[in-house]
Amino acid sequence: MKVSPSVISSRLENLASEISKCIDGGAASFHLDVMDGHFVPNLTMGPDLVRAIRRCTDHELEVHLMLQDPGRYYRDFLEAGADLPLIHVESPVNTGVLLRKIIMEGSRYGVVINPETPFEKALPFLDEAALLLVMSVHPGFSGQSFIKDSVYKIREARSYIDEHRLKALIEVDGGINLETAKICRDAGADVVVSASYIFSGNVTERVGLLARL
Ligand code: DX5
Ligand code: ZN
Repeated sequence: MKVSPSVISSRLENLASEISKCIDGGAASFHLDVMDGHFVPNLTMGPDLVRAIRRCTDHELEVHLMLQDPGRYYRDFLEAGADLPLIHVESPVNTGVLLRKIIMEGSRYGVVINPETPFEKALPFLDEAALLLVMSVHPGFSGQSFIKDSVYKIREARSYIDEHRLKALIEVDGGINLETAKICRDAGADVVVSASYIFSGNVTERVGLLARL
């Protein structure tokens, strides 16, 4: 299982060492939760923090853009060193136009669907996606419980992606711990995001436990 720790829940005063602990545990990438206080009621990081994180690691940085206007900001995050913008189909923008622009500019993208959004909404953007992010909590806060119905969506996505031989990885975000990660793995997920489980205990050990699933 690939593990992408969401570092916003780490001890931010020790960010560089928290990142190294994740790498020691076998983290495959880092998940950066960007929230604007509009698309979701919470506020988190901007490009400057992403730039600082870039200086801490060469691992892939995915930016989960929980923004009302991702089209206005994604370039700032890419210029700050992020590798993979993750765009919600629920953002009130023309998703197709935005994703096309990202590809034309030479970047990859991931597409994100909320718990109440059917898998079909991601279909028009899946052929070229590097990743499909299935939200297993309502975006906005870490520490919520895994929504069990997400498992059906992971299974549906797995069979569609396999049947159509698409390159998109399936990533699951929200309420991931050892138990729910196993459920996601069995349903066909490739990557799990985790914040509160990893950073409320021994970071290296917990990343390792997830990575060895
Ligand atoms: C929720 C974020 C998640 C969240 C995960 O809006 O997208 O990445 O931080 O937190 P946990 O792992 O605690 O559910
Ligand atoms: Zn996230």
